[in-house]
Amino acid sequence: MSDLLWQKDGVAIDARIMKFLAGDDVLLDRELFLFDIQASTAHVQGLERIAILNAEESAGLQRELALLGEDFRSGKFVLDDRYEDGHSAIESRLIERLGDTGRKVHTGRSRNDQVLVASRLYLKSQLENLHAYCLAIADICLRRATSESLPLPGYTHLQRAVVSSTAMWFAGFAEAFIDNAERARQTRDWIDANPLGTAAGYGVNLPLDRGHTTTALGFSRLQISPIYAQLSRGKFEMAALEALASALLDLRRLAWDLSLFTTAEFGFVELPAQYTTGSSIMPNKRNPDVIELMRATYASVAAARCEIEQLLSLPSGYQRDLQISKGAVFHGFSRGLAALALTPDLLARLQWNAARMRAAIEPSMYATDLAVELAQAGVPFRDAYKHAANAADQSGAGRTPEQSLAARISPGAAGDLLLDELAQRLAQAKKSLAVVAS
Ligand code: ARG
Repeated sequence: MSDLLWQKDGVAIDARIMKFLAGDDVLLDRELFLFDIQASTAHVQGLERIAILNAEESAGLQRELALLGEDFRSGKFVLDDRYEDGHSAIESRLIERLGDTGRKVHTGRSRNDQVLVASRLYLKSQLENLHAYCLAIADICLRRATSESLPLPGYTHLQRAVVSSTAMWFAGFAEAFIDNAERARQTRDWIDANPLGTAAGYGVNLPLDRGHTTTALGFSRLQISPIYAQLSRGKFEMAALEALASALLDLRRLAWDLSLFTTAEFGFVELPAQYTTGSSIMPNKRNPDVIELMRATYASVAAARCEIEQLLSLPSGYQRDLQISKGAVFHGFSRGLAALALTPDLLARLQWNAARMRAAIEPSMYATDLAVELAQAGVPFRDAYKHAANAADQSGAGRTPEQSLAARISPGAAGDLLLDELAQRLAQAKKSLAVVAS
């Protein structure tokens, strides 16, 4: 391992203890590395602005940081356990290349604000990805809701309840994912504050140009209190995971529906062949593993959030416990986004079995329609209900699913206008993505 930044003279390093301290931290820092380089560059510019670095030193550091970024991307520089962590690796390389100039880079900063700023940049970008995936899911749901509507039984308690439609089903998930996209954007905006310059959590006796680093890194505002910058670690990571979990909660339900709908018992849905697998022993099987793993992903994200919540039982100030949060966040986001990324294509290609769905709509499913119609004609609803309950099996006489849907106010039933309204909300949410990306 390269020299430790904090090593004390005369104290030998115990390899076993070092291993425990480091864990897989340096490997996790691969996710943050480019963000740390970006933040280090802004920090160097800030140091030049307050004359800690001269123009030549600043240019040299910025050049070497850019080269390190390129080498990391191309695989020429590998971040591994030769280093304690990503932050030390950056500093070591600058010292190796620039000598004394490299030794100046850490002026006025701490690894504590370094990891905070890199984490915030990482999460902003992941929440932008989340926003985009949610919109892509909402988009395909809305397109399918608009292009076709087939009668589908609506269930409560998993018992046949009333007539519904594939368009209503899709429209429901369209609105859910528009909400999830909005939540991702709001969470991103909340995280969009610059902690760089708060040093170890108590500020530093230098007139650091925090305004400059805020603008250079594309943050919309400054994190003002150094104490709070530190205390917010874990909290903002939890918020990001909550936004992600919100999308995966809906994906879990969607996947649940599809796994029921694809059974022989329901037979409503045919998944694209690529989304199914076989059995090692039962040649007849066609298993919906992909949707099952989509359903399971919520658990990983919820567990990541829970791990951080458990960690946060801490007093003020930096504590090394906080390092553990990174693994949870990266694991949660990599699984969560991977599941969401596949969803639009799955939804675009799944096929409904119209005949099976229509056959599953039984006459008693019109009983609610009948009761409501009687009430509309002036019969007190309770009496209408009783009448419809007694006549439930005949309540479907002469009725079709299409008629039932035509009188229903819902996007995907009689709600073309409501589909337009959803489309408008989606367009607005997409515009906010353009703002995010700019
Ligand atoms: N790997 C550490 C983390 O993620 C970086 C900060 C180290 N700070 C310290 N004071 N030891 O928290």
